[in-house]
Amino acid sequence: MNETCGTFFGIGVGPGPREYITVKSLNTLMKADKVLVPRASGSKSSVALACIKDIDIQQDAIEFLDYPMSNDENFLSSIYRDIAGRIIVDLKKKLNLVYITIGDPYIYSTYSYTVAALKELMPGISISTYPGISSFQALSAALDFPLGQGKEKILILPCPETPAELREEIERNESIVLMKIGDRFGWVRELLIEMDILKNCVLGKRIGLDNEILTRDLMSLSRDEKPGYLSVILIRKVLPHKRNGR
Ligand SMILES: C[S@@+](CC[C@H](N)C(=O)[O-])C[C@H]1O[C@@H](n2cnc3c(N)ncnc32)[C@H](O)[C@@H]1O
Repeated sequence: MNETCGTFFGIGVGPGPREYITVKSLNTLMKADKVLVPRASGSKSSVALACIKDIDIQQDAIEFLDYPMSNDENFLSSIYRDIAGRIIVDLKKKLNLVYITIGDPYIYSTYSYTVAALKELMPGISISTYPGISSFQALSAALDFPLGQGKEKILILPCPETPAELREEIERNESIVLMKIGDRFGWVRELLIEMDILKNCVLGKRIGLDNEILTRDLMSLSRDEKPGYLSVILIRKVLPHKRNGR
């Protein structure tokens, strides 16, 4: 612990402003000198910020961190270094900084790269990370969908590029959490029909946010309701087991 500096906290928030935040994270947020809010460059809003909209934090404590979308690793490294540099300036002023991230901080989040850049620039930095409720956990709870029973295998999978790859993964596991579906929904649904397991699946779009869709009927989605980036499908090869003898 570096006592001459402030602490960097990373907390999971959401999904959505549904009070899905741990007591520890909420207490930490209320004591923040600055709340660091990641958002995509060029965007005026932030999903993470929408998740804490009902929590009374000081508006002037909010600072946006803009992350550009790019596949250029060198460019991205320089961005993460710059962001880490800015954060370190504040830590040296002994400020306590709370970085909010949607769902769990270590499930597919820019948070992990930010932490790595911070540790590189400032070995010995004081970092505390508190877990959050992942989008797929919120979906499974909302629709009473058991993800794993007994010794079933659960795979968390960013949607592959082809139906053949997805089929292979489904065949190897009992349950799949399918994330980052984007514009692949059409063929994903076709594959689930072909494998005769669509009836065992559920979908959540914009879970906890405005225009949320939570459904057990993936055929009900109209063209306009196409899931897009903020969506998750939970896939089971077989229906959940019961213990009532039937
Ligand atoms: C960058 S990852 C962030 C995951 C996040 N850390 C979590 O624990 O859920 C983005 C993916 O998470 C899922 N996701 C995050 N928030 C969501 C929401 N509110 N509704 C539906 N899916 C969401 C989607 O699959 C999306 O493609």
